[in-house]
Amino acid sequence: MTEPAAPTGPTPYESLGGQTGVRSLVDRFYDVMDLEPAFAGIRSMHPPALDGSRDKLFWFLSGWLGGPPIYAEKIGHPMLRARHLPFPIGVEERDQWLKCMSQAMDEEGIDTALQRRLAEAFFGTADWMRNQAG
Ligand code: HEM
Repeated sequence: MTEPAAPTGPTPYESLGGQTGVRSLVDRFYDVMDLEPAFAGIRSMHPPALDGSRDKLFWFLSGWLGGPPIYAEKIGHPMLRARHLPFPIGVEERDQWLKCMSQAMDEEGIDTALQRRLAEAFFGTADWMRNQAG
């Protein structure tokens, strides 16, 4: 899995403002998914109430971005690809997820260079989650 950590300098977790910044990005991501018709396809795969999804993505991203590995502590190995197998994910769903995250990063006012670096890492992970030909 592609991870965004760089060999030197602050971790993405630190650059985003630690726990508060990462939680805020996750909340924005699910707010955007919930509100934008363009993301209705992936929204419909999620439960009606997004509280659990928000928590789990925040726990996961915390560790993935170089902060505390909350997901691993609370749940264990992410096994992200296996956990996404119940959902049909093709290019369309992958791109909806990535656009939703880009919009969230933009609205959060995240520095452009950091956005680019994260977008690349998110692409690697989202593409690896594809389980449908289309
Ligand atoms: C490629 C398009 C993607 C789609 C359509 C998708 C969709 C979903 C859905 C429907 C769930 C279940 C929500 C729930 O149980 O509340 C989920 C869970 C999750 N997703 Fe994604 N996802 C995608 C990509 C990603 C990416 C790129 C990441 C991480 C960078 C990610 C991280 C997670 C995590 C951590 C969970 C919770 C797993 C668990 O503990 O059950 N997803 N995703």
